[in-house]
Amino acid sequence: MTMTLSQVYRKIETLLNENGVPDADIDALCLMEHFFGADRTKLILHGNENADENSYQKLFSAAEKRMQGVPLQYIIGKWNFMGYDFYVGQGVLIPRDDTEIAAEEACEFALSIDRPKIIDLCSGSGAIAITVAKTAVNSEVTALEYSENALNYLKKNIELNHAYNVVPFAGDVTKCADSFKDGSFDLIVSNPPYIRSEQIDTLQRELQFEPRMALDGGKDGLFFYRVITEMWYKKLKSGGKLLYEVGEDQCDDVCKILEKYGFENISFRHDLHGYKRTVSGSFFKVES
Ligand SMILES: C[S@@+](CC[C@H](N)C(=O)[O-])C[C@H]1O[C@@H](n2cnc3c(N)ncnc32)[C@H](O)[C@@H]1O
Repeated sequence: MTMTLSQVYRKIETLLNENGVPDADIDALCLMEHFFGADRTKLILHGNENADENSYQKLFSAAEKRMQGVPLQYIIGKWNFMGYDFYVGQGVLIPRDDTEIAAEEACEFALSIDRPKIIDLCSGSGAIAITVAKTAVNSEVTALEYSENALNYLKKNIELNHAYNVVPFAGDVTKCADSFKDGSFDLIVSNPPYIRSEQIDTLQRELQFEPRMALDGGKDGLFFYRVITEMWYKKLKSGGKLLYEVGEDQCDDVCKILEKYGFENISFRHDLHGYKRTVSGSFFKVES
C-alpha cells in the first residue's frame, strides 16, 4: 500500500522512538530529508504526496541500522561542522559540536598572523584543519593522522571543501615529530583521543561504532597530551601557540603539563555547557 510522506515520517519516528533511539523525531526528519529530500517545510506543505516505494525501502533499512545503534551521521555519510560538510563513515570520528571551541580559537589565532603555518595533530576527518584553512585562506595547514581509514576521509574532505592549503600527512604522532624542523609552526592544534581506556566500554552504544583509536587516551586519558607536548613543543616558532581540546575534567591536568614544558599565557575556554573545553599556551624560545 502506498504511503504519503507524512505517514512515512510518523511511522519511522514511532519505530525509532519505540526502539530507544534518542531524539527520534530529529533523526526521522534527517532521514526523510536524506532519502526523500523532504525537510520540515516540505513535510508541512507536501506531506500528502505519495512516497516513492524504492526510497521508502532504502529509508526503512537505514532506520533498522539506526535502531541497532549505528550513528545517524554514518548512515547519512556526511555531517556539517562549522558550515562545512565532511564525509564520515565507519573508521573516522564524527566531528562534534564541542570541537567548535578549539576550531574557533585556532581560526582566531590563524587570522592574527600573516601566512601562518599550522599543524593539526590527530586530524581525523580534518574538521579542525579544513575549517581553519578555509577561514585563514593564506594559511598553510598540515593535517597529521595515523589511521588509514581516517586519512582517506581526510583526503576526500579536502577535495569536497576545495581546501587545497591543507596537506595531509600520514604519521604516528608519538613517533614522527622529527619529520619536522624545530621552529616550523605558528600553531599546533590537536583534539587527541582523551577518554580513559576503562571508560570506553561504558559509553553510549553509538560511540561503540566509532573507532576506538579515536577515543582511547590511555589509562588516565592524558597519554596524548603528555606525549604531544613533550615531543612537539620545540616544533613551534617562538611566540607560537599550542592548543588542545580537552575532556570535561582534564583542564587542570593539561594546564600542568603545559607548565612543565615552560609554556606561558596558559589559558582555557568554556564550551556551551560550561565545561573547560580548550587549553592553550604560548611557547617562547629561550635564547642560549
Ligand atoms: C578525538 S579524534 C579527533 C579527530 C578530529 N581532529 C576531530 O576533532 O574531529 C582523534 C584522532 O586521533 C587519531 N589518532 C589516534 N592515535 C594516533 C596516533 N598515534 N597518531 C596520529 N593520530 C592518531 C585517531 O585516528 C583520530 O582520528
